[in-house]
Amino acid sequence: MRWVMKSMLLNRRHFLTLSVTGGIILLGKQTNISFAQARKEEKMPYTAKDYSKLLGMEGFSETLLKNHFTLYQGYVTNTNKLVDTLGPLLKEGKTGNPEYAELKRRFGWEFNGMRLHEYYFENLGGKGGIDKAGKLSKKISESFGSYEEWEKDFRGVGAMRGIGWAVLYQDTLSGNLFNCWINEHDVGHPAGCTPILILDVFEHAFMIDYGLKRADYIGAFFKNINWKAAEGRLK
Ligand SMILES: [Fe+2]
Repeated sequence: MRWVMKSMLLNRRHFLTLSVTGGIILLGKQTNISFAQARKEEKMPYTAKDYSKLLGMEGFSETLLKNHFTLYQGYVTNTNKLVDTLGPLLKEGKTGNPEYAELKRRFGWEFNGMRLHEYYFENLGGKGGIDKAGKLSKKISESFGSYEEWEKDFRGVGAMRGIGWAVLYQDTLSGNLFNCWINEHDVGHPAGCTPILILDVFEHAFMIDYGLKRADYIGAFFKNINWKAAEGRLK
């Protein structure tokens, strides 16, 4: 399609401009630059984070994890492509075009595919269970009656048929916690809530190691939760 070709040309020009100005440095190292910052600073591309420290995690083969990292990098690439493509369409006054509308719809899917993977990988790599005296454990007990009740519900959400995510969310207005099913990447997010613990239940997250035994994968997930990272997200 013509606009895709044009976008690729713009990306190439932009890349060269960044190279000249020294902005290319950002491509070579991990950065936590936000999209707002990126837009301000001439739309420098967001860089995929490195989760190779998770390799060797019990219950997750190297093949599975490396495939998963590659899939995540694809979401980062496509999110950057959408930012690069939508900007010129806006500048050219093409907001009424179907291309603009469909790419806008696509943005939430790609962006959430990227960000949910980051939350997921970052709440992995831990050892041991939740700190029962910690604030997250207390909050879970307040919202669900007990940690055990919460875990039963969270495992149940993760085992639901379909592809998506199980997410423990905190409602930042009431402070209450909810376990939610997110369909694919973009459907079902409760507005204004903060993700606390994320479990990927797309088939790519477990089939290489577990086949159809999703419950066994969820068991392996629970053995490797980084509870400190999850607790750090609590408001
Ligand atoms: Fe995934």
